[in-house]
Amino acid sequence: MKKNKREVVSATRVGEEWFEQQPYIDRMRQVNEDFFKKTGRKKKVLINTWGCQMNENDSEKMLGMLNNLGYEETDKKEEADLIIFNTCLIRENAELKVYGNIGALKPLKEKNPNLVIGICGCMMQKEHIRKKLLEKYKQVDLVFGTHNYHTLLQLIERVEDHNERIFDVWDDNKKVVENLPIHRKFEFKAFLDIMYGCNNFCTYCVVPYTRGREKSREVADIISEIKTLVSNGYKEITLLGQNVNSYGKNLENPITFSDLLDQIANIENLDRIRFMTSHPKDISVELLEIMAKHNNICNQLHLPIQSGSNKILKAMNRRYTREHYLEMVQKAKELMPDITLTTDLIVGFPGETEEDFEETLELVKTVEYDSAFMFLYSVREGTPAAEMENQVPDDIKHERFDRLVEIVNDLARKSNLKQIGREVEVLVEGLSKNREDILSGRTKTHKLIHFPGTEELIGQVVKVKINEAKSFNLSGELI
Ligand code: SAH
Ligand code: SF4
Ligand code: F3S
Repeated sequence: MKKNKREVVSATRVGEEWFEQQPYIDRMRQVNEDFFKKTGRKKKVLINTWGCQMNENDSEKMLGMLNNLGYEETDKKEEADLIIFNTCLIRENAELKVYGNIGALKPLKEKNPNLVIGICGCMMQKEHIRKKLLEKYKQVDLVFGTHNYHTLLQLIERVEDHNERIFDVWDDNKKVVENLPIHRKFEFKAFLDIMYGCNNFCTYCVVPYTRGREKSREVADIISEIKTLVSNGYKEITLLGQNVNSYGKNLENPITFSDLLDQIANIENLDRIRFMTSHPKDISVELLEIMAKHNNICNQLHLPIQSGSNKILKAMNRRYTREHYLEMVQKAKELMPDITLTTDLIVGFPGETEEDFEETLELVKTVEYDSAFMFLYSVREGTPAAEMENQVPDDIKHERFDRLVEIVNDLARKSNLKQIGREVEVLVEGLSKNREDILSGRTKTHKLIHFPGTEELIGQVVKVKINEAKSFNLSGELI
């Protein structure tokens, strides 16, 4: 490990101006070119990402910035010159995994003192976590947060050239940062942020604390990015936000999400549009109508219910009732009979009784979800629910969880069985795991399907006949 490293802990800053990265880009490019001349190889970076699509997208941008400097990507930590962990705080198990992984880097750093280790993402927005890394994980050179990852190049320069240990996390950033370079994971489908942050403060959730207040990107920036993607051959765009239905409220010229979606759907040659996540309190009939109107907006809706009990929904501060939710689902099914409906469910929220839980089971059966993400409630420090009495014991949580999983899996299988015999359009995404002669892709309704085929079809839209169904996927053949 480097000796006598200076420790610099910046005061957290609020709303700092977006500053010019160009001097750092020029400087670091030169450093990396010199490195190449000396060693005959490019520097390598490994980025590990936990958490949601927001984090994935931030990682794609960090990789874009680093590619620009001449870094090459690697998936082997032993050969990396720079390792970045982009972390998630949503549940306790996400957090614990990260500590384990940082601990495992210690021997690597001892062997190679020039290795730079950076930790960023949602966990870093918490002061007690930063303190732990500062004091107990000395192998970490660099810590930054969700509001200042765009300053990465400057931060790396300070670590490398000034021999500093940098902990620099902003509390918020009032500006939307545009035009960062991006290195996307796929060449045919793209995830695209339309807004950042969350204003909802559901009582169990850390996101409003780790991602700050809601901020929307300008319509023109979104449209022009999508047009560029389409002209580069992209077929599918997924619009991202913690609550896309409140898009546009804080823009100088306010606009609704439905209007944005309508404009995007009119972009020529865009095959597929998806979006996540819709909050049931803000979803509108107008939005469902826009979905039904445009053929290129996929008939797929992820609408997290969390609980089927009005009492629990209130305690969660979700601000809708099960009745309102069921009404919206009914409307969606009327307008789009083939729609795929998915959801998120939390089991064992404080105060959840057997009756509350049974209301959740009943709602799940009524909606007949195609699939669901199910979570055991996880206590998150600093959220109101962590302070609530009547925390549900672990054994009861697990017992309820198992019952819920059985019902959801059964519904998923039933929904998939109904697909047998249908002919569907599939966007081929890659080879199926462990099989070189089987392709996997998604239907417009987001169902996963496997079928025999060859690699050159990856990225294409093909027609497939469905002939087999399981809980988690379909099988078929090309037609
Ligand atoms: N903005 C999205 C969800 C983002 S977090 C929405 O409101 O729908 C993804 C999911 O993680 C949530 O929908 C919720 O089901 C789950 N989740 C969040 N905090 C949790 C916690 N403390 N314990 C268990 N699950 C949690
Ligand atoms: Fe978390 Fe609720 Fe915001 Fe979703 S809407 S990110 S669950 S606070
Ligand atoms: Fe996790 Fe942050 Fe996403 S807490 S779920 S990575 S917004």
